[in-house]
Order: sequence, then structure tokens, then C-alpha cells
Amino acid sequence: MTMIERPRRLRRNALIRDLVRETKLSSDDLIQPYFVSETATEPEPISSMPGQMRHTIESLVAACTTSAQAGIKAVILFGIPDEKDAEGHGADADDGIVQKAIRALKASSVELLVISDVCLCEYTDHGHCGLLEGEEILNDESLERLAATAVSHAEAGADMVAPSDMLDGRIAVIREALDEAGYEQIGLISYAVKYASAFYGPFRDAAQSAPAFGDRRSHQMDPANRREALREAQLDVEEGADAILVKPALAYLDVVRELREEIDLPLLAYSVSGEYAMIEAAAAKGWIDRQAVVLESLLSMKRAGVDVIMTYHATEVAGWLR
Ligand code: PBG
Repeated sequence: MTMIERPRRLRRNALIRDLVRETKLSSDDLIQPYFVSETATEPEPISSMPGQMRHTIESLVAACTTSAQAGIKAVILFGIPDEKDAEGHGADADDGIVQKAIRALKASSVELLVISDVCLCEYTDHGHCGLLEGEEILNDESLERLAATAVSHAEAGADMVAPSDMLDGRIAVIREALDEAGYEQIGLISYAVKYASAFYGPFRDAAQSAPAFGDRRSHQMDPANRREALREAQLDVEEGADAILVKPALAYLDVVRELREEIDLPLLAYSVSGEYAMIEAAAAKGWIDRQAVVLESLLSMKRAGVDVIMTYHATEVAGWLR
């Protein structure tokens, strides 16, 4: 008789499966993104992201309290200013919406790491991530604005800053600006590998940050490229990043795996608004098992090699994992 290999022995019951499971989800490794709006007078539901809100500062503090109680350790904040202009002055204003939100969180009793997204696109009236000359996004001229934004977030009390602009050289410039201002302990999570993705659609709705003309393909990466991801990540490691982020997540897990093997810094993935919206829409139709699909998606990211996941489902998942 031919000998049969029997992998099923390790799947016979839940106890064995629990014992040999290779990858586990933990609320320790989830970051909850939150939107905070300067114009909202009460939390405004975001139609393309059911369950997510544009928060007031007050409702943000309440939501963060709920996250912390569920076991979440960190949040990332996105601001929606009341006024936008060509240079995005709301981004580094001392009384800007994110700066006010960070101060409110730090003055509250909530114990959370507060990470801030650093970019200009939510603050510019043209919706681009830097300063423009005609239709060109100026690289070096924009770096100073990004660095000023990062420093003002640190001044307000941010624990870490996360530049998401994808302009060249920004990690080095931001690191230097933070150090010079005395914030050498403030960490830098670099969105090192951010693709020009259609999965950001609902976010741009939420943050009213869609570009007024053109797109982001002159600075965000081409979805076709994998080798280039490694180069982007290596550059940001050399420039002083403390952690590297890949975005979006689900459609880019090959890139995550590649970086896991080559980069020894903590690796994050951002499961973006479009990933969230797809799950929510299909679940609302009754076409998928929402909880199972959310957990399976996040588990896949961890299996691919991600250490930390940014996901709009974070707080809810932390509740499930309790
Ligand atoms: C830029 C930024 C974007 C997202 C996070 N930071 C949008 C963009 O690049 O257009 C998208 C996140 C998501 O889709 O959930 N500040």
C-alpha cells in the first residue's frame, strides 16, 4: 500500500488547530484611523464608509476613549480644515484642526499613541500634496511645508508623525526639522510605499481631498512596480524612518512579503478606505459574512509579514478579539 501523507492530523479539531496556528491577530497591532473636521458641529457619517465619521473634537475624544477601552494602542488622525488655500496653511497652523485635536486628546484621560498624518492634500484648495507651479507639483519647495507641518504636530503633542505625501527626500528633511526643534524622540512612520491607487476613493470623499485636476501618479507609485517598492523603502530607511508602511494592503501583499524579507524595521500596512468600503457594501447586501471576511483579510496581511495594520475596523476587531 502506498504511504499517504496526512496533514489533516493537525486539523482534526479546534484544540489542535489553535495549537499549531502560525499567525495570530492582536489588538496590540491595530491602528484606528480617525477623521476630525473643523466645520462639523456634530459627527457626520461618511456615506462611502458606513460606520465612519467626520468627528468633532469632542466626538473624537469620545471615540478614542472607546478605542482605548477596546484595547487599541494607537490612532492616526486626518484633519479636514474649514479653509483651504494654495499653500495649505491649515496644515501647519498652530490652531489647525489636527493640532487642536492632538491637544484635546493629550489633555484628556485617554491613553493612546497619537500618530498624525502629514500631507498637504487635505489643506490645499487644489487638493494636491505639495505646492504647485502651473500643474507641476514642486518637490523641494514643498518639503519645507511638510517639515513645518510635522513639527507643529509634534509641538501639539503627537507621539509619531506619518508623512503620506510620497515626495522625494521628505523623510530626511522632516527628521532634521524635528531634531532641530528638539523632537528627536518623535518617531517617523514613512508611507514609503504608497501606490497611486483607486482604492483611496472613499477617503477623498471623506476628507474632501480629491485633486481638482490631474491625479497623483507623478509622486505615488505605479501599481505595476514591485522592485521600485524596495528602492523606495530602502531610501526611507537611509533617510531615518523608524517604520515603513505599504498602502493599500490587500492588493499589495506580495510587496509586503518582499519588504518583510529585506527590511528589518517594523512594517505596517494600511488597509485603506476602498478596502473597507468593499467589505461593508458586500456585507450590507448579505453577500459575505462580514466578521469572517474582516478577520480573514487582516490575518492575510499578518501572514504576508506585516507587523502593524492600520484599519478602519480596528476598534471593532479589538472588541471581537477580547
Ligand atoms: C493623503 C492620504 C490619502 C490616504 C491617506 N493619506 C489619500 C490620497 O493619497 O489621496 C488614503 C487613505 C484611505 O484611502 O483610507 N493625505
